[in-house]
Amino acid sequence: MSFDPSMFLTQYWQKKPVVLKQFFPDFSDFIDEHELAYLAQDSELDSRAIIHNEKSWEVIQGPFDSFTDICRDYWTLLVQGVDKVHPDASELMDAFSFIPYWRMDDLMISFAVEGAGVGPHIDQYDVFLVQGKGTRRWRVGPPGEHKPVHPHPLLSQIEPFGAVIDVELETGDVLYIPPNWPHEGIATSDCVTYSVGFRAPDTESLTRSFDLLFSNSLGISKRYSDPELNTQEFPGLVHHSSIASLRDQLIETLNHPLWEQSLLRMLSEQDLLVEPPEQLLTEDEFEYKLNQGECFERVPACRPIFTERDGLLGIFIEGEYFEMTTSQALVKKCMSGLTVTIEELNESQDKNAFLSLFTELTNKGYWINTSEYEYV
Ligand code: SIN
Ligand code: CO
Repeated sequence: MSFDPSMFLTQYWQKKPVVLKQFFPDFSDFIDEHELAYLAQDSELDSRAIIHNEKSWEVIQGPFDSFTDICRDYWTLLVQGVDKVHPDASELMDAFSFIPYWRMDDLMISFAVEGAGVGPHIDQYDVFLVQGKGTRRWRVGPPGEHKPVHPHPLLSQIEPFGAVIDVELETGDVLYIPPNWPHEGIATSDCVTYSVGFRAPDTESLTRSFDLLFSNSLGISKRYSDPELNTQEFPGLVHHSSIASLRDQLIETLNHPLWEQSLLRMLSEQDLLVEPPEQLLTEDEFEYKLNQGECFERVPACRPIFTERDGLLGIFIEGEYFEMTTSQALVKKCMSGLTVTIEELNESQDKNAFLSLFTELTNKGYWINTSEYEYV
């Protein structure tokens, strides 16, 4: 099928679920249940197993050192954040980059035996469910009042719901589900599901941008003042004009350019698994390697965000800020995971600024030499 991202955004994104048949026409799994079990042993990744039979549900939290307890009845093994450790998982997420990076969260991969599932539930975030090997029946219902049930303390399910979509997904199919639409997937054969998850900050979490602002920028905090104060009958009364001034004090902070920077720092945080190289590179060494044909890429899951203002490109990665005045076209390509050739770079007037930025990003571990990188 030919997928039209702009049609998808106007008709479905955050509005209604849709089945995208053969979104990946030649899909082939880059992981199987054995490799997933290997990842579920990693203490840096969040994993869990959900096991059920006719009578009860059980949840076992990873990391796991044995699977004998898990592979029984109807079981599902789920591992979160696989894009951080697996370049192919990171690449799979890139197929959905018609949604901005700052809205993307991570890739969860699950393996379920025939008949297994995690039960009917509601998620607060958008998700694209990519069907890997095997088949799975998905039912999706309309948002509304769905009574929560907890068949296990770690399991938030809802009572059975009426479906508006009832479909069996095959390898390469994708199901998009907006937040708050109840859904349930039951494996109709042993199957792998890839969940491309998104994030959307709530107001409470946005207040962290203030913490970042005040911890990073000196002199931003103003103090309330009231030189026009008049006498008042009751000392306990707080005038609406005082409240309005306090509100203005906060709004002034929100309008400060450094607040925007703190917000973007916050939005760029991804908890990447980054390891700076043992041997730091000089710009000359970095350029030499490029000329030798060595390739550098973003570390898996790294999805840098940037803003443009007055000829400045502000780049944010993992809460860090990098500023560029030049080289912008090539830099924006690299930030988006597109290839920049050595010929393009050599023709660019801004080669030096480019080399300086990417030497720094490589030395911080955000960019890696793919000829040296090994996936374990
Ligand atoms: C799963 O992969 O089993 C669960 C995905 C979901 O329902 O969000
Ligand atoms: Co879900």
